[in-house]
Amino acid sequence: MAGPNEAVRVSDKVYWVGAIDYNIRDFHGYHTALGSTYNAYLIKGEDNILIDTVKRDFSEELFSRVSSVVDLSDIRYIISNHAEPDHASSLAMAIEKIKPEKVFASKIGVQNLKALYGLEGVDAVEDGKEVKLGGVTLTHMETRMLHWPDSMITYLAEDKLLFSQDALSMHLGSSERFADEIQMDVLEEMANRYFANILTPYSQLVLKLLDKVAAIGLEIEVVAPDHGPIWRKDVGRIVEIYRTLALQKPKKKAVIFYDSMWGNTEKMARAIGEGVADAGAEAKVMSLKANHRSDVAGELLDAGALLVGSPTLNNNIFPSVADVMTYLKGLKFRNKSGVAFGSYGWSGEAGKLICDMLESMNVELITDPLKNRFAPDADMLETCREFGKTTAAKLEEMVRDE
Ligand code: FEO
Repeated sequence: MAGPNEAVRVSDKVYWVGAIDYNIRDFHGYHTALGSTYNAYLIKGEDNILIDTVKRDFSEELFSRVSSVVDLSDIRYIISNHAEPDHASSLAMAIEKIKPEKVFASKIGVQNLKALYGLEGVDAVEDGKEVKLGGVTLTHMETRMLHWPDSMITYLAEDKLLFSQDALSMHLGSSERFADEIQMDVLEEMANRYFANILTPYSQLVLKLLDKVAAIGLEIEVVAPDHGPIWRKDVGRIVEIYRTLALQKPKKKAVIFYDSMWGNTEKMARAIGEGVADAGAEAKVMSLKANHRSDVAGELLDAGALLVGSPTLNNNIFPSVADVMTYLKGLKFRNKSGVAFGSYGWSGEAGKLICDMLESMNVELITDPLKNRFAPDADMLETCREFGKTTAAKLEEMVRDE
């Protein structure tokens, strides 16, 4: 066990020198319930190489961990796998302190490091080419859009270790550095939330990357991602988790999220949920008064149906529901059916507006929106239950077709 702000040995040549952010709860709109880590790594070889840095607020933690292994001035190269500020906003400071001979990034990384931080003189690496650097053998592979256009991963042949960057990551701030020290259900849950909220739009790219890595036959004994725990045992498990998430196969599960002004849309949501469950499918009934947009995204990844409940407010979608719909639209989920429902007083536009949004998200509409003027009576609640059963039948069909 390392002391405070000391490096943690990962493999023969590699040390973790990153930072733990126990307190972060908002990662560009995603509620990171358990915080995160910004993982940076030191390769200690003939020449020392720093892989990535950390979010600027944590730069002293990075420098302190590096200094527990080598003097900062003994680092000869820095490799920036990704320009986003959670990994590169300390880079300018690191360059100033370390004065490396060279800094490397992908071709787009070179442009983005200049555009974001004004950094000049960064060298572009060649995609897919094995190179010798500082006495070790590295291969950089561009992973454009995982999760930015500049992203790349780096393979260290001597230790059979993949610096997988945002890929194979999760937001999980813990005192444990290794996945084998954390319960598997926690890892699965956090990987699901991370994937749903960050990588869903790029699911096809994740599958291609996993196929590419398998096809070129990289031997991987350690996966060292940029967020969350390091995998030094059973690395196939995180690959398998990611592959399953990226496939987005729908389960017999409906996410029913809603907000309600006076409790009427809520009554409809609960009755629909009862109908779904009575027909043997899973119903996730989620009030936006108790759930964050990223909770909805996390539940939606493996669901087949998205049922959206909103009152009409000033001829429009209720603001909290519009927020979540905008967020989900950007995440480009696949393989969903759905519909809108809700109570209204006199105009009732929300249902159609939401259904239009669902269609623009390639969600297959199950029916027209289910609307009710003011409080749902017993007949309407029965209609909602029946609608829940129709949704369950649709889910059955979707699962059969997969
Ligand atoms: Fe962890 Fe795309 O940054």
